[in-house]
Amino acid sequence: MAERAATSRAGADAGSRASADGVHRRAADAGARAEAIPLAAPVLGAAEERAVLEVLRSGRLSLGPRVAEFEREFATRVGAPLACAVSSGTAGLHLALRAAGVGQGDEVVTSPFSFVASANAAIYERARPVFADIDPLTLNLDPDAAAAVVGERTKALLPVHIFGYPAEMPAFERVAARHGLAIVEDACEALGAVHADGVRVGGRGHLAVFGFYANKQLTTGEGGMITLDDADTKAHLESERNQGRAPDMDWLDHDRLGFNYRLSDLACALGLAQLGHLEEMLAARRGVAERYREALSEIEGLELPCPDGAGGQRRGWFVFVVQLPSGCDRDGVVRELAARGIQSKPYLPAIHLMSFYRERFGHREGEFPVCEDVAARSLALPFFPQMNEGQVARVAQELRAALQGSSAGSA
Ligand SMILES: Cc1ncc(COP(=O)(O)O)c(C=O)c1O
Repeated sequence: MAERAATSRAGADAGSRASADGVHRRAADAGARAEAIPLAAPVLGAAEERAVLEVLRSGRLSLGPRVAEFEREFATRVGAPLACAVSSGTAGLHLALRAAGVGQGDEVVTSPFSFVASANAAIYERARPVFADIDPLTLNLDPDAAAAVVGERTKALLPVHIFGYPAEMPAFERVAARHGLAIVEDACEALGAVHADGVRVGGRGHLAVFGFYANKQLTTGEGGMITLDDADTKAHLESERNQGRAPDMDWLDHDRLGFNYRLSDLACALGLAQLGHLEEMLAARRGVAERYREALSEIEGLELPCPDGAGGQRRGWFVFVVQLPSGCDRDGVVRELAARGIQSKPYLPAIHLMSFYRERFGHREGEFPVCEDVAARSLALPFFPQMNEGQVARVAQELRAALQGSSAGSA
């Protein structure tokens, strides 16, 4: 494990600090005494500092050697032939959908229970995200529901490995083969996840996109990676992330439309250092999840993240999201926890019910009942590799108290 941990922007801003107004004074006093527990915190130590300092001293802050090195090592880690580093997961999704041929008037079938970027990426290309409901257990896009909304305009499927749980890729692969569709995987939350057939997420040969924001399993501050299996597509992605330039970096001609979606050498050096202890960080996350499972199992009505499936299927632990009992005052629970120094966050809101999506596409309540029920009840608890047993126990104890308070309040 890295020598020194730092608290990040992810920890500081990942959950809004609710006001303690109206919350019992005893809770506020308890919170003031105990150390605050953030939602997330990266593990950054001397290896990261050395790696970044070396790049700083080299003077090659971008377009240098660390980019290809990080791409090679990342591809090896997920079992993909190739990888292309980009400035964010969102940028990666945008380029991957372009590479899949998605354009104006096309439809992309995806999950309404995701971070908004997965659906937004289709809109960047004037395509339409078409949602289908999710599986109530895994919270991933339901392949049968997805198949049911495939139509003449559908160009691609965009399953999301939500909260690091591997999506049912063989089923999506069958749907894609039947209708001649491309697949782009949103693996932004799923580094370290493994499918039931033993293939690691990102290693199936489709375009798969990872994200490296500070709360992720591996961070470069901001950043992302597209994994893939085709060298021509990689050359195309490299050009598009770099303003449409030719590989020889000819400054005089840009032969296609491009973007600045490059990832700097500083960020790639950080990523390489993080890869150096990724296994320990993933194992530590898994350990925290197991402790949570024990500590929370007795709380009545609380639903915990689904366990790994049969065979070799494994979640790449990203967040620990529970579903509160129906009818519980979730905002009240968030406020109670905040007053006791514990960050938590409703996670995630349903994309189709966001105001932009309602206005643009006419979505309304009741379209995707499973997603809407889950989105109304889900709550992310503090979760990071260095979280110790005492902190897990404290979160469990305070959550139990907050839930009792909320049910007493609503009775
Ligand atoms: C499922 C999912 N998709 C896409 C993204 C976007 O990644 P980024 O923030 O790196 O642009 C995220 C990031 O949180 C995510 O969780």
